[in-house]
Amino acid sequence: MTVELTFSIIKPDATRRNLTGAVNQKLEAAGLRIVAQKRAHLTEAQAKAFYGVHAARPFYADLVKFMTSGPVVLQVLEGENAVLKNREVMGATNPANAEPGTIRKEFAESIEANSVHGSDSLENAKTEIAFFFAETEIVG
Ligand code: CMP
Repeated sequence: MTVELTFSIIKPDATRRNLTGAVNQKLEAAGLRIVAQKRAHLTEAQAKAFYGVHAARPFYADLVKFMTSGPVVLQVLEGENAVLKNREVMGATNPANAEPGTIRKEFAESIEANSVHGSDSLENAKTEIAFFFAETEIVG
């Protein structure tokens, strides 16, 4: 049994439609525990730095604009194999390819406005959690 922490963002398209609770219900039903959570409006500098790995991609500028277009909810999730479990409950990046019942299948508007972000590896989870949270804010 490997209990992991992963990082999650409820994106501006979901907060705009008041879907925070609906997303959290899916996360919790999947066995993930929300051990830290805060609402924030990302600055351009924060969004650029957070998505720095995508800086060379054609969608980067639009992505930064979208992620700063409204409030987000930043989360740390805990659970057994939390990184993979969260990616399963999120569904594929493009909602057109997401499995039925997943967050993106049910809620995402497009490949960009896809309602949630989740870390893609344990290593990235650590970096992403540290980007937004102090250890004292994580209450397991
Ligand atoms: P996320 O998992 O947060 O990681 C990068 C984000 O870029 C992705 O979700 C989408 O919101 C956004 N994005 C926009 N266009 C694309 C694309 N063509 N491929 C991948 N991600 C995209």
